[in-house]
This record gives sequence, structure tokens and C-alpha cells, in this order.
Amino acid sequence: MPGFVVVGSQWGDEGKGKIVDLLTERVDIVARYGGGPNAGHTICVGDRRFALHHIPSGILRADVLCVIGNGVVIDPASLLKEVGALREAGVKVEENLRLSDRAHLILPYHRGIDIAREEAARDGRLGTTRLGVGPTYESKAARYGLRVADLYDEATVLEKVRVVAAASRPAGAALPAELDAPPEEVAEEYVRLGRALRPFVDDTARLLNARLDEGAVVLCEGAQGTMLDLDHGTYPYVTSSTSTAGGACTGLGISPIRVDGVIGVLKAYSTRVGGGPFPTEQDNDLGRLIRERGREYGSTTGRPRRCGWFDALVARYSVTLNQTESLALTLFDVLDGFDAIPICVAYEHGGRRIETLPADPGVLRGCKPIYEVLPGWKSDTSSVARFEDLPRAGRDYVAAIEKIVGCEVGIISTSPQRERTILRPKSRIAHWLPPR
Ligand code: IMO
Ligand code: MG
Repeated sequence: MPGFVVVGSQWGDEGKGKIVDLLTERVDIVARYGGGPNAGHTICVGDRRFALHHIPSGILRADVLCVIGNGVVIDPASLLKEVGALREAGVKVEENLRLSDRAHLILPYHRGIDIAREEAARDGRLGTTRLGVGPTYESKAARYGLRVADLYDEATVLEKVRVVAAASRPAGAALPAELDAPPEEVAEEYVRLGRALRPFVDDTARLLNARLDEGAVVLCEGAQGTMLDLDHGTYPYVTSSTSTAGGACTGLGISPIRVDGVIGVLKAYSTRVGGGPFPTEQDNDLGRLIRERGREYGSTTGRPRRCGWFDALVARYSVTLNQTESLALTLFDVLDGFDAIPICVAYEHGGRRIETLPADPGVLRGCKPIYEVLPGWKSDTSSVARFEDLPRAGRDYVAAIEKIVGCEVGIISTSPQRERTILRPKSRIAHWLPPR
């Protein structure tokens, strides 16, 4: 009954989609446990590129079941668009996708209030994806959210849509059009969307537990990253869900005893999109070079990502919280051209050395990174297939990360393509998920 969690270990966009897609040929089920359309998981197969937002990154393999768990918030029109695009590309979606009947739905009012708040905040903006994800989790916690299961009773839909519409009237000047949508029309639209989603709807917690009992291997796919976790991230500059590994249990309805291992996905450097402190940020030519080399533009919003060096404090924090036992180090080739590569090993704040992440965002903002500088390898690693064939300085970089973070690096991804990946044969990942 093995379950494994793939978790983002920085601020999201670590390349979880590629790692999940790659490991999918070794599992039976891929299950998304949190976030919503704010996630953007890009998968490259040959010269085809798929950007997934709700649908698990296992969908490209015909014999794998994909589950969208109760912890995910759904924008039904956008989910159906994703289904349509996959179908058009010849991907089998019908029997392979199950959607939790307990998942909450994003309404236009949630998007409207997300936009209105961001516009009103100006300098203090969180930099959300403006897709209504945060406000939908608020409705869920406030206990009046609309769930998938509600869609099959028209009176309930209208009642709940009215409640959400009434609750979403922020005081302020110009309000976005989404807030003016008449509840009757929205309710009608959602009932229609509910019909289209019906073939996918299931009691997914029951399904997952039954399949785990039968011995199925389940890969739980995280969205966002540890530093965006509602509890453990750089609050309030976070998303509104549990993106750490623990979220897999609540977001899918599986017990912690089902989880046998955690794989952390980590970029060879750092990025962040949206507001909030980011100590190793390089708001300069080096940062721009990383952005161009890594094509660091949001796959959901197209925003340029903020780029910076690897932060060992963030990585260690994430390994501790998630109890990560093996890391996938991604976008390694982006560092190919640099003469020297700094790793942040501690922060300096008010004349003191800090080695753990402070809770206060003001303190974190004032932290200056202390770097250890490693030599670059200055050669193309994008087609290297074995760890031994990486340049010496590249292997040393990996070893330095393993040492300072206290966790093995089991996978090194050297290009977006599926096959451009080094899976170390003696790693935990290789042991947990043998080829089939
Ligand atoms: P994947 O799964 C990177 C960020 C937003 C913003 C903050 C809150 O692709 O790694 P939200 O719309 O969630 O309320 O925005 O969280 N954010 C992400 N950043 N990758 C993601 O997902 C993200 N999902 C949300 O940019 O700073
Ligand atoms: Mg992304």
C-alpha cells in the first residue's frame, strides 16, 4: 500500500510537473491534493508542451488514473477547458480522471474579490494569481462554500451562490465586473458545468483507500511549494492551502500511515513570483540571466519570475517540515554558463548570524544572505545521462547541496524533456519506485 508525496520545496514552480510525469510510469495513480488553477505544471514530451493547472501530471500516460482530491479548489469552466485541450491533443481523459465530490468550487465572486483586493493593495500586494483561489478557501473555512456534490441540486447551487455573492462586496471604489454577475445566471451556469463534470465525479477518498488496500502505488502531487504553505510559508505572502507534504493526507483523505516517502523538488537556484521576502533575490543582470536561461515566466499568469541563488536555509526548512528523504534537483542546466555559483548558507540580521528561517516577514526582509561560492562548470549538461558524466564542479555542487541540506539528491533534471533526467540508481527514489 505504498503512497509517496512529491512536494515543492521552495516557492513553487520547481518543476514538479516534469518530475511527476517522469515517475508516473512507475505508479498506478497520481493524485493532486491542494491548490487550484493557480498551479501551472508544464510537461514536455517530444516537441509537445502541456500546461496543466488542475489535472494531475500523470494524465499523459494512458494506464494511470488521475485523481483531483477534495483539497483542490476547482474552477469548473477552466477545468473543462483543460480537459478539452488534452482531448484535442489525443490524450485519453475520460476514464482516467476522477474528481472529488467534496472539492470546493471557485465562483466569479471569488475571482472578483481577489482582483479587487490586489488592486486596492498597491504596494502591499500579495501578487496573487487573481484566480480566486484564496477567497474560495475562505468560503470553505467559513462553511458556506459550494462543493462539487452541491452541483446536482439546483436549489442548493442558487442558495450558496447567493451567499457567496453577498459576502463578496468589499468596500472600495471600482469593483471588478465579476462581482456584478447576477446569482441566478451564475447558478444556472454552474448547474450546466456540473452536468459536464459529472462523468468525472467520484468519492475519491474512498477510491484511493480501496486502491491502496489492493496494493496500488499512489503518487501524491503537491502544488505550490513549502514557502507558500499557509501555515509554514512566508506568511502572509503565501497561498491559502497546505502545500507541504501533510496536505496530502487532508487533501486526499488518506491517513499519514499510508505515506511511505517524500520526494522534494528543488531548483538548482531560487525563484519566486508575486510579493514577499526573498533573501537571495538577484534583482540585477545575474537574475535576468537566470530568468532568460531558465525561461522563468509564469505558466499560469505569464509574469516574469524573480530569480536568485540557492538558499540552503529554505531547503533545509523544507526538508525538515516534509521529512523529505530524496530530492529532485531541477533546472540544473540553467547554471551551465556561470563562472561561480553562490549558495546561501546563513543570513545576517542586525549583526547576528541566523541559520533558521525567522517567522517575522519584516525580519526575513532585512536578512542579508551569507554566501559560500562554488566554482561553476561552464559546460553543457543538458544531455548528460549519468551522474558520473557530469563535470566535476557540477558533481561538487550537488554534493554541497546534499551536505548542507542533509538529504540525498536522487534526481537531477537537466532539461524540460522527460528523457533529459539523471535518476541515480542507488537513490531512495529508484528503490521506492522501480521501473515496471
Ligand atoms: P505551482 O504549482 C508559484 C503564488 C502567487 C502569489 C501567492 C498567492 O505551479 O508551483 P494565490 O493565487 O495562490 O492566492 O497567490 O502564491 N503562487 C505560486 N507561485 N507556483 C505556483 O504553483 C503558485 N501558486 C500560487 O504567485 O505569490
Ligand atoms: Mg508553476
